[in-house]
Amino acid sequence: MTRGRFIVFDGVEGSGKSTQLPLVADWIATTRAAPLVTREPGGTPLAEQMRSLCLQDHQEELPKTAELLMMFAARSVHLNNRILPALAAGQWVLCDRFVDASYAYQGAGQGLQGSDIAQLETLVVGPHQPDCVFIFDLPIAMLMERVKSRGQADRFDRADAEFHKRVRATYLERAQQQPMRYVVIDASASIQTITRTICKELEARFAG
Ligand code: TMP
Repeated sequence: MTRGRFIVFDGVEGSGKSTQLPLVADWIATTRAAPLVTREPGGTPLAEQMRSLCLQDHQEELPKTAELLMMFAARSVHLNNRILPALAAGQWVLCDRFVDASYAYQGAGQGLQGSDIAQLETLVVGPHQPDCVFIFDLPIAMLMERVKSRGQADRFDRADAEFHKRVRATYLERAQQQPMRYVVIDASASIQTITRTICKELEARFAG
């Protein structure tokens, strides 16, 4: 059985990645088995409970380190219970956010050390890196506009422009460091244009 492809959509808030997931999944399903569409934090019943804990407001302070550990705890559950079995069965996986979000939000956003995140990445993800990561990018003004218009659903939506600037810069830096694995998507383009760009890229990389 050929292992499935592990594809991640990640990037700044309000960039439309969640809109693209089902569209790209439909395209993949025209030529092969329907992919698993999933998300982080979350993706299994237990990891979805962890997602609520990660994103909701708390009565007491949530130390940044605890936040990071919770993201990786949810990731460990999701990866082992959902993603890896699907890939092993030959299914493609489309995942809404993955490790890059921890570097961007807990690292650049919250100020935690990249080297600590890297240790957790080694422990939790190890060799199971995505085959391709699409980074959805938007200029800060547009990003803040979109966050405002959708009503600030969770703790991260309420962060200020400086936080989002750091998050954006980290995504772009990571994409630049590994151009073979990352593709930056101009998320200000139309929905149809973005879907076409992603599908063309997948076809070029993984045809056959
Ligand atoms: P979503 O808005 O794409 O559903 O993601 C939920 C929030 O979780 C988003 O604000 C980014 C945040 N997040 C982290 O802070 N660290 C992580 O590792 C992940 C996966 C998400």
